[in-house]
Amino acid sequence: MTDGVHAVVATTAAVLDAAGGVAAARALLAPYERARADRLHRSTDRDDHVAAHVLVRRVAAALLADGGREVEARDLVLEQRCSGCGGDDHGRPAIAGVPGVHVSLSHARGWVAAGAARGPCGIDVEPVAPVAPLQGVLSPGEAAGIADLGPDARDAAFLRLWTRKEAVVKTGAASLDDLARLDVRGDEPLPGVRVRDLDAPPEVVAAVATVG
Ligand SMILES: CC(C)(COP(=O)(O)OP(=O)(O)OC[C@H]1O[C@@H](n2cnc3c(N)ncnc32)[C@H](O)[C@@H]1OP(=O)(O)O)[C@@H](O)C(=O)NCCC(=O)NCCS
Repeated sequence: MTDGVHAVVATTAAVLDAAGGVAAARALLAPYERARADRLHRSTDRDDHVAAHVLVRRVAAALLADGGREVEARDLVLEQRCSGCGGDDHGRPAIAGVPGVHVSLSHARGWVAAGAARGPCGIDVEPVAPVAPLQGVLSPGEAAGIADLGPDARDAAFLRLWTRKEAVVKTGAASLDDLARLDVRGDEPLPGVRVRDLDAPPEVVAAVATVG
């Protein structure tokens, strides 16, 4: 944790188990979070959503404990605000009443990740799977760097770049429109923005970005 960010990658199952099961995990969430989970069609997506929203409370509590403030994850309230439509049940997450702690979360097909830091942070996790690299996402240098790899290595390399870009976007330092201009091969893709891969089992890739 050289950049001051608490970041965890875990399976949805492990997070739900640690919480005492899905019902106990759901009980930690605000009504709006449970309602959003309930609107998802697949039970696996619902579980991912619940687990990520529990994990983000855990990492925020761990960061606060580092600063000498002992607080139970269950006592933290997550609030969200969408910069697109102004809605208050989705969008960038924050911990209510604790403006000095910034959080981010991600969920994808049985995996979740969450991060907490003293400045803006972003996190992303993706299971490694065959993927058709999307047009307009990589910078020319990034695209050239993975072009000659075999299919498996290319999938993993593309997803590594993708998670690094999403992590940077979630800090607010760049937007989805910037992806092809954003070269994330180095550890400082923009002035004052740092990004790194997270340690994770081989079946997933994950990255975290911080500002400041
Ligand atoms: C941010 C974004 C790129 C991440 O999506 P993703 O990679 O598919 O999904 P992930 O699981 O990795 O991350 C989703 C989480 O990112 C967080 N998030 C959403 N918008 C965010 C934003 N603008 N900044 C930072 N984090 C954001 C949320 O916590 C969300 O989880 P939740 O929906 O369970 O609360 C995606 O939400 C997006 O494209 N947002 C912009 C478009 C938009 O705002 N649409 C809604 C308009 S009403």
